[in-house]
Amino acid sequence: MLPTIAREADAIVMIDQRKLPAEEVYVRCCTAAEVARAIKTMVIRGAPAIGVAAAMGIALGMRNSKATGTQKFAAEFAKACDLMAGTRPTAVNLFWAIDRMKRALAAAVQAGESVEQVKDRLDREAQAIHDEDVASCRAMGAFGAEVVPVDARILTHCNAGALATAGYGTALGVIRGAVEQGKRVVVFADETRPLLQGARLTAWELVKDGIQTTVITDNMAGALMRQGGVNFVVVGADRIARNGDTANKIGTYGVAVLAREHKIPFYVAAPLSTIDLNTPDGSRIPIEERSAKEVTHVGGAQLAPPGALVWNPAFDITPHHLITGIITERGICRPPYIESLARAFEDEKRYHGVHG
Ligand code: MRU
Repeated sequence: MLPTIAREADAIVMIDQRKLPAEEVYVRCCTAAEVARAIKTMVIRGAPAIGVAAAMGIALGMRNSKATGTQKFAAEFAKACDLMAGTRPTAVNLFWAIDRMKRALAAAVQAGESVEQVKDRLDREAQAIHDEDVASCRAMGAFGAEVVPVDARILTHCNAGALATAGYGTALGVIRGAVEQGKRVVVFADETRPLLQGARLTAWELVKDGIQTTVITDNMAGALMRQGGVNFVVVGADRIARNGDTANKIGTYGVAVLAREHKIPFYVAAPLSTIDLNTPDGSRIPIEERSAKEVTHVGGAQLAPPGALVWNPAFDITPHHLITGIITERGICRPPYIESLARAFEDEKRYHGVHG
């Protein structure tokens, strides 16, 4: 499986997703600040991967701490958390992972652990976040594969693959799961302007896996659907509100509208760490706006004239009524999402009650 992110004794190593597929190079981050910068500049991206990176970054930063007393250590910890929280606003996995690290620290303090023990606990928590993410992707893959047609022509948008997670992927996990179940699968990857995660990353992953992949520009999806080229759509998510409204890469909403028009099932695959029950609906999800240059320039070449205004939201909201089902590690949630998402969290609590 692709090594998206890994911890070494004194560094966190990530494949540089800005350079793929032309170059397969790895970036070594030796401080929490370097990890935060890697998230902000999209060396690593994708909602679950961002959460994992933040947790590992906090653990690394605290491993480097020279603090000898818990109070000073806790103050440095709070700074590291704030640093991570300031990187990207939309993917709720980031804030979920930071909260988990905060709870780990609180438990350590409560237990009266030494600074060395707290460091070990933070390392273990970050690694658990990483490992649980891979397990969640595998579970989503198995659940999601059940609803993939036997002869599938799947459209996906952006990259919700191994690169966007700790491994295996959410939407691409469903595709991989269907292939593992012996289904015949071909994939259409929207190129995903402006940063081309579909053309660069999704196609790279799937071609490596030997899954037939056709790259299309974003404006071709409608024509492809009209001529019967697609019978299933699956995408990832950056944040899912309590009512099922879903923030994902800009362009997802358009794909969902097209899928509805052509009566094609439209699924979202996301772990529970992407579901934000505190956000009532999509209108309350903060949408990151990125630099104009991402739109005006491609590969360093300027396309739009100087002086042209640019709107560059990184994500859009797909309203819940356009979503056929939300595939999670606890099964597939169906409308009404307000009920099925809440139930998935109850199942999760019960599961942890039994399995610890
Ligand atoms: O801006 P990005 O590349 O971080 O956006 C990524 C997406 O929108 C993904 O579809 C989403 O994070 C799901 S990843 C499993």
